[in-house]
Parts: sequence; structure tokens; C-alpha cells
Amino acid sequence: MTELHLGAADLTLRPWAPADAAVLPGLLDDPDLRRWTSHRAPDTAAAREWIARQRAGAVTGERTPLAVLLDGAVVGHLVLKRPDPTVPVGEVGYWIGARARGRGLAARAVGLITDWAFSASRGPRLDRLDLIHDVDNAASCAVARKAGYVLAEILPPAPRHPAPAHLHVRSRTGTAS
Ligand SMILES: CC(C)(COP(=O)(O)OP(=O)(O)OC[C@H]1O[C@@H](n2cnc3c(N)ncnc32)[C@H](O)[C@@H]1OP(=O)(O)O)[C@@H](O)C(=O)NCCC(=O)NCCS
Repeated sequence: MTELHLGAADLTLRPWAPADAAVLPGLLDDPDLRRWTSHRAPDTAAAREWIARQRAGAVTGERTPLAVLLDGAVVGHLVLKRPDPTVPVGEVGYWIGARARGRGLAARAVGLITDWAFSASRGPRLDRLDLIHDVDNAASCAVARKAGYVLAEILPPAPRHPAPAHLHVRSRTGTAS
């Protein structure tokens, strides 16, 4: 289990905690989240299970799931996925609750985890990070652009992404790879 904490000014990224189950259903009860993500937690019991799954994924190191906090209140979720520990490539995913949207939080959070992931001294020194979103998800596309992820490819529908998707990429060296 990572105990990674990252932050800048009013923004904090830290591991999900069991006590966050109280706020999670309210955050996930949103049409955009239902449209663009598979995260569901209709009540506190389901939220506890969701958080337990996040924490279990973190134990294997395949996922680094973090709560996004604004001024100390949980407002969203950020995850760094690294399915193959022998390959220095990861993928970021995120959502921000409706009330905290429109303030640039997702791009700032992606920027923090990207700097950490590329860092040899603090993080795993990955070489490349991917960011994938449905082609119709304009807000997520704006987040990718603002976080410095370049549109590399339009992916056709696939089992994991049943709609066409944008693949955005950021590399540690700043060059396309
Ligand atoms: C995509 C998402 C994470 C963006 O988070 P955010 O912190 O609001 O991001 P930003 O504030 O940088 O806004 C991104 C863009 O969305 C637009 N936007 C989306 N929702 C908005 C809102 N409620 N109010 C204002 N602007 C909004 C903004 O215009 C902005 O574009 P711009 O910077 O070119 O003006 C958030 O909308 C969300 O969680 N959506 C549902 C889940 C989702 O789509 N996750 C990504 C899956 S790939």
C-alpha cells in the first residue's frame, strides 16, 4: 500500500481512507460520472467496498489510487496504473466531483502525479504515461492538453474502450515516443 502524499497549495493527493466512504456516494451521484466512468457507489456500504478495492489494488503496485482534496475536502479521484512492472509505461485516469469542476483541478492533479511518476528520486521514473478518453469527452481532452499530454492516436473501439478514444501521451524526456 502506497502512502504517497503529493500537494501544492490548496490541492492534496493522498491514499483513499475508509472514512472517505461518507462522502463518496455524493461525489459519484452525477450524470457525467455515470456517462464517462464505471465508478459506482450508491451508498456508504458500496463506498466502503469501492475504497477497499482501491486500497487492495495499491498493495500490488499495479495501481496508485489517490483521493483528490481541495482545501482538505475530498473532491475527486486520480489513479496511476502500471499493469506491467517490468515496463516503464503507465496510464493516468481521473474524475472530479461536479461541485469542484471548472477550476483546473484535474489538470493540476495530473501534473503532480506525472512529475512524481517521471522522478527518479521520489517516484518510479517511468518513461511514458498514457491518458485515454472517449473522443466525445471534451472536458477530459482539455485536461489532457493542459497537463501537457499530446494527442498521439485515435483508438478504434475495443473491449476496454467500446467507443473511439483519444490516446494522449506524455514522455519523461518531453519527446514523442
Ligand atoms: C473531466 C474532468 C475530470 C475535468 O475536471 P476539472 O477539474 O473540472 O477540469 P478543468 O477545470 O480543467 O476543466 C476542463 C474543461 O472542462 C470544462 N468544464 C467541464 N465541466 C465544467 C464545469 N462544471 N464548470 C466549468 N467548466 C467545466 C471546462 O470548460 C474546461 O475546459 P477549458 O479549460 O478548455 O476551459 C471532470 O469534468 C469529470 O470528472 N468529468 C466526469 C468524469 C470524467 O470524464 N473523467 C475522465 C474520464 S477519461
